[in-house]
Amino acid sequence: MSSRIAVFGTGYLGATHAACMAELGHEVIGVDVDESKLAKLESGEVPFYEPGLDEVLKRNIANGRLRFSSSYEEAAEFADVYFIGVGTPQKKGEFAADLKYVDAVIETLAPLLRRPAVILGKSTVPVGTAQRLAARAKELAPAGAEVELGWNPEFLREGYAIQDTLHPDRIVLGADSASSERVEQVAREVYAKLLAEGIPFLITDLATSELVKTAANAFLATKISFINAMAEVCEAAGADVATLADAIGHDVRIGRRFLNAGIGFGGGCLPKDIRAFMARAGELGADQALTFLREVDAINMRSRTRMVEVAREAVGGSLLGSRVAVLGAAFKPDSDDVRDSPALNIAGQIQLQGASVSVFDPKAMANSRAIFPTLTYATDIEEACQGADVVLVLTEWKQFRELNPNSISGQVREKRIIDGRNCLDAARWRAAGWEFHGLGRK
Ligand code: UDX
Repeated sequence: MSSRIAVFGTGYLGATHAACMAELGHEVIGVDVDESKLAKLESGEVPFYEPGLDEVLKRNIANGRLRFSSSYEEAAEFADVYFIGVGTPQKKGEFAADLKYVDAVIETLAPLLRRPAVILGKSTVPVGTAQRLAARAKELAPAGAEVELGWNPEFLREGYAIQDTLHPDRIVLGADSASSERVEQVAREVYAKLLAEGIPFLITDLATSELVKTAANAFLATKISFINAMAEVCEAAGADVATLADAIGHDVRIGRRFLNAGIGFGGGCLPKDIRAFMARAGELGADQALTFLREVDAINMRSRTRMVEVAREAVGGSLLGSRVAVLGAAFKPDSDDVRDSPALNIAGQIQLQGASVSVFDPKAMANSRAIFPTLTYATDIEEACQGADVVLVLTEWKQFRELNPNSISGQVREKRIIDGRNCLDAARWRAAGWEFHGLGRK
């Protein structure tokens, strides 16, 4: 059975969700206030880089199941299920999340709801938000108590957005006890195909569902900072963090994934989500419980400065006047996202210390230029490496991982490479005559 769905917000989360819901057979309208984004999406163009999403988008526009609009009236009239997929960025100068976009959806949508409706929130919000929004929606809507709200957090990773939306590890649905039956029924209809695959479906109260998302991101951030802390100790002790990660990762209680040491986490989620989590815990009087996340954040930021220091030492103690090639600008591979990207942050710090920095990334050049116009951008790996005193690999794109050392040996001034993501084969680079450094490695 197909549902009529409206998705508010057509950023990473919203655009992917809208396209994937249509892919599941539902009739979908994607809504945004940004006309330029809508124009791109309507013409079948994804405004960011996400493998495979353009095909899903084009296919479902062509078959008539997916369209876009800036009209809340049109969406309210059309749909029975309303997903909130707008951003919750960090507030300027504060740790807390800025909820103005989420609030705006409810304030604009609810007064238009004249029929029974279910609103499902997907955005990452501080615990307690959903309950407040549920009350506000009922208060504003002509349909009153027949407007019900559930929280259905999204766990998608950039680069795997379609896979994570259509085949998630689990579906979490929060609802208050009065609404839970309707909300659950609607979610079961929307996700019928996923549930038929046997994907675990967890039904909780609103607060738990909000916390599941923040806790998951806090855990992942902690795992990365843990291994980066081990990398610092390994450097001090002359040990090797990559081997250590492999060895502890064999213990199934620990697991090897998300134990890649390097320049740490960035992106539009983990950094701001752990900060918003600390801020919210503070408001709830539970700040002590999360003080460790300050350390997680600090270790993460230190991983970036350590990389700058390793580069400075590698070129003889001062970056002034040196030439540095930076391979990678996106916060992770298979993405053009440079929000809080460790790679760009490091490139910027190195330039501020007087080096001339030439950056190449397979997909993130336009976004990097927009936020960091003062760096030099090269058109390919070879150009970035021209005359370099040191090459830094800061995002583990496949083409960097598989790079043949001999292909750039002729370009560089010094055959010196630093692997900021522990993604290169050190023996191969050394065999080709390169001086090789890895973070936390021998
Ligand atoms: C994350 C969560 O994984 C996802 O579930 C949530 O919905 C949104 O936030 P994403 O931001 O797309 O997803 O990226 P993720 O793959 O989690 O990587 C985050 C950062 O951690 C990247 O900068 C990555 O390079 C870094 N990382 C990841 C490491 O430094 N080491 C690792 O071992 C893994």
